Amino acid sequence: MAILVTGGTGYIGSHTVVELLNHGYEVVIVDNFSNSKPEVLNRIFLMTNRRPKFYQIDVCDYDGMTEVFEKETIKAIIHFAGLKSVAESVEKPELYFKNNVGSSEVLLQLMEKYHVPNLVFSSSATVYGVPKHVPLKESDKVGGCTNPYGQTKLDIEYLLKDYAKEHKEVNIAILRYFNPIGAHQSGLIGEDPHGIPNNLMPYITQVAIGKRPHLNVYGNDYKTVDGTGVRDYIHVVDLAHGHLRALKKLEEKPGLVIYNLGTGKGTSVLELVQAFEKANNVKIPYIICDRRPGDIDENYAEVSKAFLEMGFKTKLDIEDACRDSWRWQRKNPHGYD
Ligand code: WQD
Repeated sequence: MAILVTGGTGYIGSHTVVELLNHGYEVVIVDNFSNSKPEVLNRIFLMTNRRPKFYQIDVCDYDGMTEVFEKETIKAIIHFAGLKSVAESVEKPELYFKNNVGSSEVLLQLMEKYHVPNLVFSSSATVYGVPKHVPLKESDKVGGCTNPYGQTKLDIEYLLKDYAKEHKEVNIAILRYFNPIGAHQSGLIGEDPHGIPNNLMPYITQVAIGKRPHLNVYGNDYKTVDGTGVRDYIHVVDLAHGHLRALKKLEEKPGLVIYNLGTGKGTSVLELVQAFEKANNVKIPYIICDRRPGDIDENYAEVSKAFLEMGFKTKLDIEDACRDSWRWQRKNPHGYD
């Protein structure tokens, strides 16, 4: 009985596949390499000595996905596959809705047809929109997303809630990630963005390796500790462990559950820069620029529910993530190319 991981060669997907394999799970990966590379499969083998079954399929492809469910016995699904660039979603909203919501609809149809009981969904803190207060609790109001990417995550959450209402035998864990950073300590897998990184940490590591002249700090007039944006940066290996906790939780047949996955701590842009410089003994030159449209002042997670109900809490901190991101970037100056 296998765990089907969609988007399993992506940044968070690959880290989760490694933890699943190292904890004895049988894994089947579906990925279309739209935001990852086949080399990730070789790195997973190097790290686990196992080659999970792999299907190069777009999750929106109903017939292709039917083949997977026909050939494999799936006991649970972890659904990572989706487009995730906030900036790109603003330019191409229809593509994001078609891909992210469409792929989830295909999965739900096949879950019903093949009686798959459990699903873990990769959601995002962006579903909270512009927070009225921090830290954010799972019971806080969602909506008012500041970009189509976040809206697609919220739409999928609603789809899952409706599906769970009609299928009492199904168990679903919606995991709302805050800001994933870092890399596996082996330096063999990590974040490998296409082109100019949207996200802060990969941009910092590209400055550190000399690929970018300096970091652009998007605004220092936010209502935060030092004026720069504050976020809850969770180490990607902690995040991967959170998915294994969620799979275990679903075995208790809880129905539909929602958890924030974060550290419970806020870190500003400049605090992250300083932590990176200190952890790695490098200098990160930066300039203060205008705010980025759609950015919010701060958000970080209230994390007690994941701990009380799943026994999940983060073990790695910002310094670990800075060291691990830098090791990944140094060992892979051109990512997986
Ligand atoms: C973090 C902070 C920026 C880049 C988004 C999605 C979220 C998740 C992570 C997918 C902000 C500042 C950034 C730079 C900067 N996506 N920044 N210079 O926007 O909080 O979250 O990415 O899984 O769902 O919403 O992350 O890393 O882009 O920005 O100053 O070059 O760093 O203004 O304050 P964000 P981010």
